[in-house]
Amino acid sequence: MYMNFWYPMATSEELSDKPLKVRCVGLDFVVFRGEDGAARCLSNTCIHRGGSLGHGKIRGDRIQCPYHGWQFDGEGACQKIPSLGPDARIPVRARVDAYPVQERWGLIFAFLGDLPEAERPPILDVAEYGQEGWRQTMQHYDLKGNYQRSVENGLDPAHNEFVHDTHGFQGENEAYQVNEMRVEERDQWGRGFWHTFNSPKLPEGEMRKLRDYEGELEAGTGHHGPNQLWTYIHVTPENWFHQYAYERPVDADNIHIYLITMRNCALDVKRDDLIIERNDYVAHQDITIIEELRPVVTPTTNTKELMTPSDKVIVMYREKLDEWDAKGWQIDFEMLVRDSKKVAYAIPSPARREQKSWVLDSVPLVPAGVSKTGIEAVG
Ligand code: FES
Ligand SMILES: [Fe+2]
Repeated sequence: MYMNFWYPMATSEELSDKPLKVRCVGLDFVVFRGEDGAARCLSNTCIHRGGSLGHGKIRGDRIQCPYHGWQFDGEGACQKIPSLGPDARIPVRARVDAYPVQERWGLIFAFLGDLPEAERPPILDVAEYGQEGWRQTMQHYDLKGNYQRSVENGLDPAHNEFVHDTHGFQGENEAYQVNEMRVEERDQWGRGFWHTFNSPKLPEGEMRKLRDYEGELEAGTGHHGPNQLWTYIHVTPENWFHQYAYERPVDADNIHIYLITMRNCALDVKRDDLIIERNDYVAHQDITIIEELRPVVTPTTNTKELMTPSDKVIVMYREKLDEWDAKGWQIDFEMLVRDSKKVAYAIPSPARREQKSWVLDSVPLVPAGVSKTGIEAVG
């Protein structure tokens, strides 16, 4: 798991007048919306004596700890320590980590890391959102599994034939093979591929109006950072579905996935339910597979699985992870779990680059250059 990327913490709808405690990369955060309407994300552990801010109250634009009422603003700075009385001077060290937040497409993203703004990887863009001729739906899923396994499932062209009867023939087509994969190098944050495959008619009913013949279909998919995926399915040359998945690794074996589906066909709002139903159907087929994969996390070396050419973008994804390992962004999850009862860690926020003294320890990181996948680290 990595710091210095954007993670989806909640939907906009979920942020009411109460704070939300959200777990990501094995740590807890509080997400809340102040009176000014802006969403905020802070480390959940109160630096007084460890209260859970997510169980506190929103007071104006601040979050108030449930234990002794200390109030922290959106920058994480403590503004009030009630036990000291109304005119108390608040020490500079009375501060929790606060993370940059962006609210886009109905989702609240937090940048969990300390990079200055200019160096932060972008969030995978939903370019079609709000464009004429496109409509969106959004849904989200809990699953038991490791998020890297889930991203790799998205990058795998060979599972469609067997896992999804909506896309493939369940092994009934003797002539089946994975066709040429045309690699797309988008930017330094991710790669993907396009390919053509044979697909059946869509199931009977409303869906079949979108595609009522058996034949070739174009699809592309790729990753962005460790936890974001784009999947473009052109069910006919005119009818396109562009999906964006934002994964929140809750911990090593739990994920929460937010899925935005953009479509340029069946634009009537009444068709939303149909799209959601179909996405649920396909997602649960994937979830059934991912939850049973062993080992739960991707192996620490590629020699412990037997890769074929259709796995090449998965190998590329693991190479990217190694690049981020080489930057020293990988959280030492084993140490985090080992220490979890005795140390409350925090992901370092950008303010730690300016202010040196913090109450909580910064999360342990795997030293830069130590590869966990067995591919030599570069960068
Ligand atoms: S633990 Fe939060 S105010 Fe005391
Ligand atoms: Fe799938």
